Amino acid sequence: MLYQLMYSSQSTFAPSMDAMALLLDRARRQNAARGVTGVLFSVDGVFVQILEGERDVVRRLVEHIGKDPRHDGLTVVMERPIAQRVFTSWSMAWINPDASEVAAWARLDGTTGIQQVLARLQQNPARLPAVMEHIVAAIGDSAGGAGQV
Ligand SMILES: Cc1cc2nc3c(=O)[nH]c(=O)nc-3n(C[C@H](O)[C@H](O)[C@H](O)COP(=O)(O)O)c2cc1C
Repeated sequence: MLYQLMYSSQSTFAPSMDAMALLLDRARRQNAARGVTGVLFSVDGVFVQILEGERDVVRRLVEHIGKDPRHDGLTVVMERPIAQRVFTSWSMAWINPDASEVAAWARLDGTTGIQQVLARLQQNPARLPAVMEHIVAAIGDSAGGAGQV
């Protein structure tokens, strides 16, 4: 069963270009081998990641990622079976939005802080498809390094 899961966590390091390149390079190779696609971004020290793939594979991967000392407090925001992938061609895309951009994607303009946006999304998952469309558009706009499969 194809599955999609979104989580947030608190970064325990400064996600510099070098540190992220290292993390993403490995993640992309492993995800491609496991049939996992998705997107990762970091806003104000908070990681948000969406993972797609076979349910058991995704759940096992999240458990594994949760033990990584580069972040803590992993919390699942949303998980659900899906008919088709949203991030079809990305083994792990990386984008770099700011909190107000993410709020606008969720039509939550004026919401301060990424944690507040995530809490509102959790309460109202109907906003998620629009957010994902904006994320896909943002990936398309970001030059290079997007982790195309
Ligand atoms: C925020 C964050 C996101 C990550 N995303 C992935 C991912 O999508 N796929 C992956 O294989 N590893 C990901 N990792 C790295 C894993 O935690 C782990 O380091 C990696 O899978 C290598 O594990 P191994 O040494 O047991 O093979 C992520 C780590 C962090 C901190």
